[in-house]
Amino acid sequence: MAHHQHRHRRRDQKIQNLPQVIVLLPPGCFKFLESGYSHKFHFLKAWESQLPLDQFLSSHAGSVQAMLSSANGPLISAQILRMLPSLRLIVTTSAGLDHVDLLECRRRGIAIANARSVFSEDVADMAVGLLIDVLRKISVGDRYVRRGLWATNGDYPTLGTQLGGKRVGIVGLGSIGLEVAKRLEGFGCIISYNSRKQKTFTPYPFYSDVHELAANSDALVICCELNEQTQHMINKSVMLALGEKGVIVNVGRGAIIDEKEMVHCLIHRDIGGAGLDVFENEPHVPQELFTLDNVVLSPHAATNTLGSTMALYELVVANFDAFFSNKPLPSLVVNN
Ligand SMILES: *[C@@H]1O[C@H](CO)[C@@H](O)[C@H](O)[C@H]1NC(C)=O
Repeated sequence: MAHHQHRHRRRDQKIQNLPQVIVLLPPGCFKFLESGYSHKFHFLKAWESQLPLDQFLSSHAGSVQAMLSSANGPLISAQILRMLPSLRLIVTTSAGLDHVDLLECRRRGIAIANARSVFSEDVADMAVGLLIDVLRKISVGDRYVRRGLWATNGDYPTLGTQLGGKRVGIVGLGSIGLEVAKRLEGFGCIISYNSRKQKTFTPYPFYSDVHELAANSDALVICCELNEQTQHMINKSVMLALGEKGVIVNVGRGAIIDEKEMVHCLIHRDIGGAGLDVFENEPHVPQELFTLDNVVLSPHAATNTLGSTMALYELVVANFDAFFSNKPLPSLVVNN
């Protein structure tokens, strides 16, 4: 018995000497991380604690230097950062940084590493999938068959819309937007885009004004990041410019679109349809959308493939390894 306790104590001491990483809520790749690297890092799992978050942080995390965060976790606010006085690194499993208080990180000198473009191709696949689903009514047809309506009512009564030849406006021509463009070119779509700055490396027509892009597009695919400039960038007047046959696909962040206005536009057929992987107040989705057959809904799943989860997990480990051995971070995005 005494021997047993002794062994336990030794193991606890060993764990305490490992570099600590605080995790508020586990991202999708966490189970790989935990099973593969618990011998190397001591993960402080805030979500498993009985204590309220602020108490957990103030009693356990005073010396923690590194944090793992994700877009579906709690906001990394100035208030949370204040309870982590030793924090010097945030590794996030998202490409976007909209869940992190960047000003506070700069003030404190906290570096940030992200998912780089690990999921760009998966997210682009999802964007194209959603667009095809809205136009060709795949999910609607699936519901029609499952409800037994094909046998009783005959063929589904509404025609779909061709993808080929459609003018697709890409909002945000970063790594995801470029993959979307590449794919949709293959379907015979005509690509143009809006972004902060014109990209010199691409021949696609550039619109500096998203309203003008919408007026010249049959579909908008939202691939940009969420920040102060892009919040509610897709507002009512942009949607009206897109028009009653126009389709919006959003694989960026919910708040890039004024969601209330979008729901209104969809109900009143001011726009033709929407394929949405992201929402303003996840996991809450406006109930009005549930009955609309011109809308396809997805639970923020564009990055959820085994392939990109494994690639992400390796990138996360590489960042923590580099940080704790004072080497350059592989996917450093904000170097404060
Ligand atoms: C809607 O967005 C467009 C383009 O970003 C902008 O020019 C316009 O002023 C906005 N309209 C409203 C009502 O906010």
